[in-house]
Amino acid sequence: MKKINIKNYKKTLSKFTTGITVVCSQTNDKIIGKTINSFNSLSLNPPLVLFSLGNYSTNFKVFYNSNYLSINILSSKQKDISNIFSQKNPDPKKIDFIYEKNIAFIKGCIAHLECKIIDKIKKGDHTIFICKVLKVDYNDKLKPIKYFNSRYC
Ligand SMILES: Cc1cc2nc3c(=O)[nH]c(=O)nc-3n(C[C@H](O)[C@H](O)[C@H](O)COP(=O)(O)O)c2cc1C
Repeated sequence: MKKINIKNYKKTLSKFTTGITVVCSQTNDKIIGKTINSFNSLSLNPPLVLFSLGNYSTNFKVFYNSNYLSINILSSKQKDISNIFSQKNPDPKKIDFIYEKNIAFIKGCIAHLECKIIDKIKKGDHTIFICKVLKVDYNDKLKPIKYFNSRYC
């Protein structure tokens, strides 16, 4: 075992393969999205999920002050969407959205979750968002995007 430093810590975590989501909220009718792979299921009953967001992330306050979010699980065909929403201040005009009452969803995803934020826990340099899942849909025909070793695979 090696003594931990930022380089070997990040590299070690990158060996955990994940899917990728884009979490969307809204402020003044503008949709704000962020590429997130710290998404995970938390509870079946009640249905709860979580993700963590960097405290210094652009638009952190928008997410922190939101009541509702969409979590969009990306398909293998949506690398461009992951790239767009991992930039600072991405232009959401390039994205096709499906609009519902509380929130917008990204078209073409493998699954969508409509969520209400019920708790936020600041730990270290990130905040864990705990969300109750209100509605879901999914597409059995699509394949997921995968992220491993800091690369799409
Ligand atoms: C595949 C992938 C997954 C990411 N997952 C997270 C995450 O779970 N939490 C997070 O805070 N940032 C995550 N990021 C980084 C953000 O998407 C974004 O790039 C970062 O917050 C810097 O931009 P910002 O300062 O505008 O927020 C991820 C980026 C990529 C490419």
